[in-house]
Amino acid sequence: MRKAARKRIPRFAYDYLSGGIGLHSALRNNRDALDNVIIIPRYLVGNADHPRTGCTFLGEQYDFPFGVAPVGLGGIIWPQAAQHLASAAQSHNIPFCLSGFATASIGEIADVAGKHAWYQHYMCADEKLNEILFKRALDCGYENLIITVDIPTVTRRDHDIRNGLSVPPRLNLRTLCDAARRPRWAMETLLSGVPQFQNYREFFPKNANLEKIGMFIQEVIEGHASLERLKRVRDQWPHNLIVKGVLNPDDARDCLHIGADAIVVSNHGGRQLDAAPSAIDCLPAIRDTVGPDFPLIADGGVLTGLDIIRYLGKGADFVFAGRAFMYAVGAMGKPGAAHVMNVLSEEFRCTMAQIGCGKIADLPGFLEPGS
Ligand SMILES: Cc1cc2nc3c(=O)[nH]c(=O)nc-3n(C[C@H](O)[C@H](O)[C@H](O)COP(=O)(O)O)c2cc1C
Repeated sequence: MRKAARKRIPRFAYDYLSGGIGLHSALRNNRDALDNVIIIPRYLVGNADHPRTGCTFLGEQYDFPFGVAPVGLGGIIWPQAAQHLASAAQSHNIPFCLSGFATASIGEIADVAGKHAWYQHYMCADEKLNEILFKRALDCGYENLIITVDIPTVTRRDHDIRNGLSVPPRLNLRTLCDAARRPRWAMETLLSGVPQFQNYREFFPKNANLEKIGMFIQEVIEGHASLERLKRVRDQWPHNLIVKGVLNPDDARDCLHIGADAIVVSNHGGRQLDAAPSAIDCLPAIRDTVGPDFPLIADGGVLTGLDIIRYLGKGADFVFAGRAFMYAVGAMGKPGAAHVMNVLSEEFRCTMAQIGCGKIADLPGFLEPGS
C-alpha cells in the first residue's frame, strides 16, 4: 500500500505522510521496537480455532481492539480521505478519530460515522475557540474527546519545509509540477475542492491570504496543553477524556489524577522528537504506574494485524494506526479504506489462532520474556 500510494499521490503529500522528524531515528525505532517483540506460539491447546476479537472499550463494544488515529490534512493525501475512513470504520465497527486539523468538519464526520467518530483537539491559545469546538463536538454527539499534548510548539520537519508545506505554506512551481504528474489525484482534488482546515476556517481573519492563515494556525497550535488546562477541559467535557502523546510514567500518573479516562501512549508517529522512545518500549513502565485497570491506547509503527497483537501483549488495551490507513486510501482511493480494515482484521484473527490464543486478555502470556 505504501509503495502504491507513493506512485499515486504527489511527492509533497507522500513526504508529509511517511516522514518523521530530524534524521528519522524515532520513526525507524518505532518499527524496530515492534519487530523485536517476539511471540511464542502454543499449538497443542486447541482453544483458539475461533478467537474472540471483539472488545468493550470506554463503554463501547467494538469488533476489534484497534481504530484509526487522527491524521491532520488528510485531504492532501487523497480527497475525502477522512470521510472514506470514517464510513469504513462505521461499517467495520471500529472507531475513527477525526483530527482537529482534518480537512473534514466535526459535523460531517458525525453524520458519516455516528458514535464511531471520536474527536481529537489541539489546545488553542484562545480558550474561546476551545469552548466553541468542544461544544460543537458535544452537540454532534461525540463521546470521546482526545487532547493531544505532544505539540507544545510549531514543529519543524525538513521535508515539509522543502516542499512548501510549512506555516505559512509556500507553494511553488515544483509543488504544482509535482501535483500535475499525478493526474488522478489532481482531477479528484479539483472535483472535491482545495483541502481546507474545515473546523477552523470560520475563525480565519477576514480576507486573509495564505500567509495570514498560516500565522493564524500557528497561534492556534501554540496553546500548550498544561495540566491546569487539562483539568479545565475535564470540568467542561462530560464524556470520555483521552490524553494523547504520553510517554513518561509521571505524565501518565498526572492524567490519571486529573480524572482522564484513558491515555494514548504515543510519540506521534516519530514526528515530534527524534530522540523520543517508542510507545511499545514505554508501555510496561506506564502500565506499572497506572495499574491494571486504567485504559491504555498505544500507537506507532503499526502496519499489520500482528503489530496490534504485539501492542496488546505489551499492556495496551487498544491500538491506533495512522499511516497504515492513509497509505491504503492514497493507493486505492475510497475502496482502500475498507480494504485495509479487512486486511488488518483478518491478520489479527489469523495471528490469534496461529499462536493459540483464544482471547485478547491472554495475549501478554504469549510474549517471550524480556522481548
Ligand atoms: C501525516 C500525519 C498527520 C498526523 N496528524 C495528527 C493530528 O492532527 N493529531 C494527532 O493527535 N496526531 C496526528 N498524527 C499522529 C497520529 O495520530 C498517530 O499518533 C501516528 O500516526 C501513529 O503512528 P503510525 O502512523 O506509524 O501508525 C499524525 C500522523 C501523521 C502520519
